[in-house]
Amino acid sequence: MTQHGTVMDDEAGQAAFDAVIEADQRIEPRDWMPEAYRRTLVRQISQHAHSEIIGMQPEGNWITRAPSLKRKAILLAKVQDEAGHGLYLYSAAQTLGATRDEMTQQLIDGKAKYSSIFNYPTPTWADMGTIGWLVDGAAICNQVPLCRASYGPYGRAMVRICKEESFHQRQGFEILLTLMQGTEEQQKMAQDAVNRWYWPALMMFGPPDDESPNSAQSMAWKIKRFSNDELRQRFIGMLVPQAAILGVTLPDPELRWDEDGQRWHTSEIDWTEFHEVLAGRGPMNAVRLQNRRDAHEEGAWVREAAAEYARKQALASEGMAA
Ligand code: 3HC
Repeated sequence: MTQHGTVMDDEAGQAAFDAVIEADQRIEPRDWMPEAYRRTLVRQISQHAHSEIIGMQPEGNWITRAPSLKRKAILLAKVQDEAGHGLYLYSAAQTLGATRDEMTQQLIDGKAKYSSIFNYPTPTWADMGTIGWLVDGAAICNQVPLCRASYGPYGRAMVRICKEESFHQRQGFEILLTLMQGTEEQQKMAQDAVNRWYWPALMMFGPPDDESPNSAQSMAWKIKRFSNDELRQRFIGMLVPQAAILGVTLPDPELRWDEDGQRWHTSEIDWTEFHEVLAGRGPMNAVRLQNRRDAHEEGAWVREAAAEYARKQALASEGMAA
């Protein structure tokens, strides 16, 4: 175990680790770290990577049906970005000793979590706008603070991801704005999609703080910088003026700013629905996993061909070196 290249015992390692966290600096892959810190990061980063990969499906559903060439090109780029995000994140998790094969296997065996939000269907084109506006909007709220996560490879991956998420959010907002300036039918379609995605988007931030088993430790380690409820509140504050510009209604009759409490007052979130989705019983869980399994099986020949090519390249370079 090393800290900047020096072999350390656990006590010295812990002291050096604590000092780095205290000074708000970064832990790097070869530094000493507590086993629980490593495990927490692998858990969060791999779940995040799986979310990006599964997150390609709800929108992938619309690539062949996008209403214009321009919309198709944008959607295609966005879905490809998500694949890229998944790959940066798997790479970040690999620096902690988890292999990509292990993580993929856990996902296709149904043993790994991924974000609840990707278990909802996308029946209309307005869902593309709403996913961009609400889902990517929530992702930005949650992920900008992760750019300052204490683990170097995770924080650095998040910087690029957040830049791309910001384009995703804007393109979604623009789809909705176009629909809201269109016919009555288009406006209804946009409002219907907002009604369906609003509550699941609020659930993306995770359980309430008093039911979030990981938050306190993750915040002490400066992996998370804000609690689930703090980010959810921040997100609502971001949405309210944007909804007014769009002309859509956020589907919560109780929503209002509470001046005394200095917070948004909302109706109760249906946490039963959240737990059902996490338990694999959301509307699209089975379909999402089956698609991922099929893609894995159908892609086996690509992985084999790439491995064979790498083997031949290595042999050729050994030959040259000899
Ligand atoms: N969906 C699925 N599982 C969730 C969840 C959600 N929305 N929210 C929380 N959970 C799970 C946690 O993973 C944890 O399970 P585990 O202990 O078995 O791993 C459990 O519920 C308890 O929650 P905690 O609040 O204690 O867990 P965390 O401290 O890890 O906080 C989190 C949850 C806020 C989601 C945090 O892990 C995080 O910030 N993760 C990184 C961001 C991320 O993964 N985003 C997913 C969306 S990606 C995306 O939107 C892509 C874009 O292109 C659209």
